[in-house]
Amino acid sequence: MPLSTRRALLGAGLAGGAALVVGCDDDAEPPGPAVATAAPSAPPAELTVPDFDPGDWASVRAQFPLDPDAAQFAAFVLSPHTAQVDAAVSFHRAQLGWDTEQALLDGIELEDAVRAAAAAYAGGAAGEYALTDSTTMGLGIVYGGLALTARDEVLSTTHDFFSTEDALRLLTLRTGARVRRVSLYDDPAAATVDEMVDRLVRGLTPRTRVVAITWVHSSTGVRTPVREIADALPDGVLLCVDGVHGFAAVDVDLPDLGCDFLSAGTHKWLFGPRGTGIVWGRNWGPLTEIIPSFTPQGPAGRLTPGGYHSFEHRWALAEGFAFQQRIGRAAVVERTVEQATRLKEGLAGSGVTVVTPLDPAVSAGIVCLDVPGTPPGNAVLELREHGVVASATPYATSYLRLGPSIVTSPDEVDAAVAAVSGLV
Ligand SMILES: Cc1ncc(COP(=O)(O)O)c(C=O)c1O
Repeated sequence: MPLSTRRALLGAGLAGGAALVVGCDDDAEPPGPAVATAAPSAPPAELTVPDFDPGDWASVRAQFPLDPDAAQFAAFVLSPHTAQVDAAVSFHRAQLGWDTEQALLDGIELEDAVRAAAAAYAGGAAGEYALTDSTTMGLGIVYGGLALTARDEVLSTTHDFFSTEDALRLLTLRTGARVRRVSLYDDPAAATVDEMVDRLVRGLTPRTRVVAITWVHSSTGVRTPVREIADALPDGVLLCVDGVHGFAAVDVDLPDLGCDFLSAGTHKWLFGPRGTGIVWGRNWGPLTEIIPSFTPQGPAGRLTPGGYHSFEHRWALAEGFAFQQRIGRAAVVERTVEQATRLKEGLAGSGVTVVTPLDPAVSAGIVCLDVPGTPPGNAVLELREHGVVASATPYATSYLRLGPSIVTSPDEVDAAVAAVSGLV
C-alpha cells in the first residue's frame, strides 16, 4: 500500500474516531504511528481569557486546576496556572507555531507589555524590570554582575536559600570578595524588626560593599525589615534581596522597600506562568551583564538574559499580573495574611510549635511548624491522608510548611489546624 494512501486512511480513521485494524498478511508493512494530516488552522487574532468574579474567592479558586478535594497549602511552591494564564500560554504558543517569525517580531511589544504590567503591579517604571526565568536566574544576574575585588566584603545572613548562598560562593570564586554571615534571630517566632536591623548593622565593616538578604525566609517564614535595613545602611552599600516569598504576599511597591535590586520568580505567590521572574533594579549601573542580551534597550533590558526562551510563558506573564490586578494586590495580601494568622492562632496550645512569628509585620504567607516526634517529611505524608497538601522546608533544620493563599479558604485552614493538631 502506498504510504500516501495509508496516511490518508489513518487520517480518515482518526478524524472519524475509528480504530484502524491492520491485517497480518506477509506483504503488509508493519503498523507505524498514527500520522495526523489535518491542515493546521489559523490561530485566533485576539487573546480572550475566561472571565471570573474577582470579588468572590470561590470564583478566584475556580480559576486554578488544583484538585478541589484537597486543601492546597503548597501551591505557592510552583504556580499551578490559572485558566487565564493557560489561555494566554496557548494563544502565544499558537502564534509561535503558525508564523514563528511574525510572532517573534510581535514579541518585542509583548515583552514591553510584560514590563509595563510588572510596573503597574509592583511600582516603579517598566524600564526598571529585567525579565528572567526564575528567582535563581535573577540572583545569578545580580551577584554575577557585581564588580567587586578581593578587598571587598558581602554581608549576608544564615537564613538564605541555596540560590543566594551559591550565587555568593560563585561571586567569591570570581572576585575573591569575602562573604560574612550574621544570624538575624535565634528564635524565629520571637524575631523583631529592631533586633534584625541591629544584628545586621553590627555585621557591617568598612569593607562591606553589598548586603545580600532574603525578604521572607522560606526556612522559617520570618519577613525581614527590608525598608528599615535599607535606611540603616551607609551610603554606597548595595542592598540586594531575594524577594520571592514577599512578592505578591506583601502589599508594597518595590521602590518603597529601599533596596537596590530585588529578584523574584513570578511562578510562586503571584501564580504567573512557570519559568518566569523579574529583577527590579533602582539603578542598574553597578551590574555588568553575564549573559548576552537580545533586548539591550535600557539598563534593565541589558540585564535580561538573551537567547530564545519559552516565550509563550514569558509573554503570558502579563495575564498573571492582570489576574492579580483584577483582584487587587491589597485584597490578595489581606486574604493570605488573614489565613496565615488564623492558622498560627489555631495551632496555639496544640502542642505543635509555630516557628513563624504571629506578627504580620515580621511574617507573610509562609507558616513553618515543628511537630514534636514527627519528622516534617512524615508529617507531609500524614497530612495528605487528611486531604491537606503541605511541604517540608529544604534546609538543614527542616520544618513542616503551609502556605495559605488565594487557593485556600478559612474553612480549609480550620481543617488544616485539626489535621496538624492530630499529628501530636
Ligand atoms: C527564598 C527562595 N528563593 C528562591 C527559591 C527558588 O525560586 P526559583 O525557582 O524562582 O528560582 C526558593 C524556593 O524555591 C526560595 O525558597
